[in-house]
Amino acid sequence: MTDLLLVTDLDHTLVGDPLALGELNVKLKALRHRVSLCYCTGRSLGSARELQREQGLLDPDAWATGVGSSLLWRGEAIPAWDRALRQGWERQRLQRLLSGMNGLRLQDAAEQSPYKLSYELGEMLPPEACAPFVEDVRRRLNEAGLTARVVFSSAVQLDLLPPSAGKGAVAGFLQTMLGLRPDQVLCCGDSGNDSSMLGGPWWGVMVANARPELISWWEQHRPNTLLRATRSYAGAISEALETLPLL
Ligand code: GLC
Ligand code: MG
Repeated sequence: MTDLLLVTDLDHTLVGDPLALGELNVKLKALRHRVSLCYCTGRSLGSARELQREQGLLDPDAWATGVGSSLLWRGEAIPAWDRALRQGWERQRLQRLLSGMNGLRLQDAAEQSPYKLSYELGEMLPPEACAPFVEDVRRRLNEAGLTARVVFSSAVQLDLLPPSAGKGAVAGFLQTMLGLRPDQVLCCGDSGNDSSMLGGPWWGVMVANARPELISWWEQHRPNTLLRATRSYAGAISEALETLPLL
């Protein structure tokens, strides 16, 4: 029986400090029968699995890859999730619209998928230029009558996803699928593409090594369901398990 759904980002959240990861793995192994584990990452499935092997990550129940644009539960696709992704998603039209936009170039083919269109900028935008840039992309989509989730990370990476995709969508979908309350879900992250799952209604933990864009997001929203950890990487997840009213 699941008492807690743990949805965690990989790079710079679960992964980054091998000692802290080892400590967390011991805790999670002892709780394994009560916890459903979801890895929720911007990486593709192949690259996420490679990281799992390299770092000795536990086997999760769910893989949410491509910034929450693909979801597998115990190795199987979930038809209801896949159906929802197709709604309002016009990848080719989006690509035609954005490929002309100044400074944007497509990420490598390995980072593209049917439900994820990813670009990068030639150089990092200064912090004050990030929000106006995202606004401009949203305005262009709006004017063209296109709907998509716009996710901007690390001041250079731009992901376009179906409206019903994203890391927050993954947390919500699995919470409902498992019949859990929002306070039985913990989401963990460090960067811009994690904000959709860190703003509640679930518990969230932001690692002490969070990126500037996530810290500015936190300064604007300060969700009362979010722990700003004093520990970094996997240590922050241990801190959340010890201090939040979870299990
Ligand atoms: C990962 C993905 C990349 C994406 C980024 C931000 O680095 O590989 O495609 O743009 O996360 O979400
Ligand atoms: Mg990360």
